[in-house]
Amino acid sequence: MAARLLDGKIMAAELEENLKVRVDALKEKGYTPGLTVILVGEDPASQTYVNNKGKACDRLGIASTTIRMPADTTQEVLEAAIEEANADPAVNGILVQLPLPKHLDGDRALSLILPQKDVDGFHDINAGRLSRGLDCVVACTPKGALYMLKSAGIDISGKEAVIVGRSNIVGKPMALLLLQENATVTVCHSRTADLKAHTKRADILVAAIGVPKFITADMVKDGAVVVDVGINRVDGKLCGDVDFEEVAKKASYITPVPGGVGKMTIAMLMDNTVAAAEKAAK
Ligand code: GUN
Repeated sequence: MAARLLDGKIMAAELEENLKVRVDALKEKGYTPGLTVILVGEDPASQTYVNNKGKACDRLGIASTTIRMPADTTQEVLEAAIEEANADPAVNGILVQLPLPKHLDGDRALSLILPQKDVDGFHDINAGRLSRGLDCVVACTPKGALYMLKSAGIDISGKEAVIVGRSNIVGKPMALLLLQENATVTVCHSRTADLKAHTKRADILVAAIGVPKFITADMVKDGAVVVDVGINRVDGKLCGDVDFEEVAKKASYITPVPGGVGKMTIAMLMDNTVAAAEKAAK
């Protein structure tokens, strides 16, 4: 079987069309959505992500500010920037790009962001509400991955979903979202015994490991839906956590890298920002 592509580029472009309409409607009411991104240090991947977020804001007419801080920024200075953005009525969304340098307490910083401005969905209140199935801001990458499955009409209810990776950013919220859709969910991680026995059972396999081409064809069931969340740079080229060439021969659907989930992460960040602005404008 040759897999069908879940094309993040096309889906994100469609979402942006709709977001533009919502931004224009807000602007007609005299309200411009605003996003503040805080980037500490010079991690090259983070710089690329932050630049892409700024470009998406520009395309949609969202006012974006990127606060760039040196790698030796203190906790106090970081927290002061968050408090300032919290207090600014022109700012609807605040995003602290992760990972932060090791000397900083990221959990403490994230907990200071007002939950209604937490467009990453990383605040304890949003993460807690997601776990209880309540209305909340949902983390952008898992929200984007779920959107891809749903918009392709893929059946989730009753399916075996296996997630490889247990991060707060992807693995855990992805598990909760798929559980809400009535999948039977398994979360695997670096200490999982016989990982392949789990991945081979997956109707829906989500790879969020951070190791290039970690998921090989022998780990995948025929006809599985494979969602690749990895973004790795190998010899100057981007590749995912899935061995795309080989796995695509077995899967029914697969997301490419680049042009897959990464595009959806940014689209969902824009969606969360516009939604925060709509609530604030009410
Ligand atoms: N680093 C990797 N992914 C993300 C994300 O979705 N949000 C933030 N803030 N940092 C990240």
